[in-house]
Amino acid sequence: MSPKQFADKYISLADAVSMVESHQSIGVGIAGSEPPGLFNALAARARDLENVRCWTCLPMRSYEIFTKAEMAGRVFNENWFYSHSDRQYHPEGRVSYVPNNLHRAATDKLVATKGHLDIFWGTATPPNKDGYLSLSLGVVVQKDLLEAANLKILEVNANLPWVHGDTLVHISEVDYLVENHVPLVELISQLPTEVEQKIGAYIADLIEDGSTIQLGIGGIPNAITADIMERKDLGIHTEMLVDGMVDLIEAGVVTNRKKTLHPSKSIGAFALGTSKLYDFINDNKDVELHRGRYTNDPYVIAQNNKMISVNTALQVDILGQVCSQSIGTRHFSGTGGQLDTHRGAQMSPGGRGIIALRSTAKNGAISTIVPTLAPGAGVTVPSQDVDTIITEFGVAELRGRCIKARMEALANIAHPDFRDWIRDEAHRLGIVPKTVF
Ligand code: COA
Repeated sequence: MSPKQFADKYISLADAVSMVESHQSIGVGIAGSEPPGLFNALAARARDLENVRCWTCLPMRSYEIFTKAEMAGRVFNENWFYSHSDRQYHPEGRVSYVPNNLHRAATDKLVATKGHLDIFWGTATPPNKDGYLSLSLGVVVQKDLLEAANLKILEVNANLPWVHGDTLVHISEVDYLVENHVPLVELISQLPTEVEQKIGAYIADLIEDGSTIQLGIGGIPNAITADIMERKDLGIHTEMLVDGMVDLIEAGVVTNRKKTLHPSKSIGAFALGTSKLYDFINDNKDVELHRGRYTNDPYVIAQNNKMISVNTALQVDILGQVCSQSIGTRHFSGTGGQLDTHRGAQMSPGGRGIIALRSTAKNGAISTIVPTLAPGAGVTVPSQDVDTIITEFGVAELRGRCIKARMEALANIAHPDFRDWIRDEAHRLGIVPKTVF
């Protein structure tokens, strides 16, 4: 455990970033696994660099290397899931979205660069006495990128939990370690609103005892944990482990006993929540993180019987196209694992893919159920793949149904103020011609 044992591997943050050269590409740990010390240290070095390309996903903090105008031409962010800060500086042209599906994110990146990655920066626990470090809060792309990179540097943080699964890296596989024992990044869930509680109740009705669940990012998926407290023997196979799952496990609702893949284990690819979650997964052999290319492969997901995926969205049109990643042309987040999990759940015996969203946005001023997606909207789930849409007004089962039936089902779960508008527009645009008899 002592750093002294591996002293030759430890270098300073300044020395680590001095190894970055112009025109190099850096792949990094994502979300709670991002390396804040290295990012911050790079800001001081960046003025000597040109066109360094960082490949990121869901940055949790705001970093000058991305946000500062003077980084133009020095650091460019290729980002496959925007967070708040990316949305702010996107108009300045130093970040661009990478469309992908989570289970192919690392593979696609390496295809695009013909297998070449100059540098990988991740985070890890300190090494144990045998020289193993845990990649801790996530292995979505981390291990794949680490294995591919020419230069591999891990930022060691003693606050990170030791997490089991496909998370271990031996110190001999890494070039250097830097130390930065900062508090962990936290994602704090808000209490569900009345609307979210109604949506949660509809979702809960579709989750039978013995189901395995995936919960996506956003207020609604997290809200449903309170609604399924009466269920028995649920299992977890998800990309993101969240605080609400700890409640379900501690309450005995999740036992993982009935899982048909990885029975007795909660499986994820990353963890993002508060210290409640991080303490729970620390050295917990019942929880395993695996590479995103495994957890989110729809054919792997489908090996869980009664697999229920729950994700949320920004807009759904009457074709059943789901947009979760942009507001018209304004890029908002990313596809992440939404399409992976939605598809995988439908391929599971007894499974179902659920997209749940509030029926309106902007304090009721606009409908999220729309005749056509806003111009420029990114399609996250195509109409061919859509299964079940839920709002606070009910459940629309779209899978296998024609557009006319989809329009009716969706209009019925839209806010009452917008139902006629949806039908009238569908007729006017000729998407669903008005029946004359
Ligand atoms: N038109 C315009 N604005 C809209 C809108 C619409 N149809 N729907 C929502 N908005 C606005 C909201 O008002 C809110 O604005 P604000 O930030 O100014 O308050 C903002 O968009 C976010 O909406 P909200 O519903 O609160 O988001 P959320 O935190 O619940 O997250 C998603 C919802 C869809 C953005 C999120 O789940 C996501 O990014 N998904 C991407 C893919 C995914 O789910 N992957 C799998 C899990 S990793």
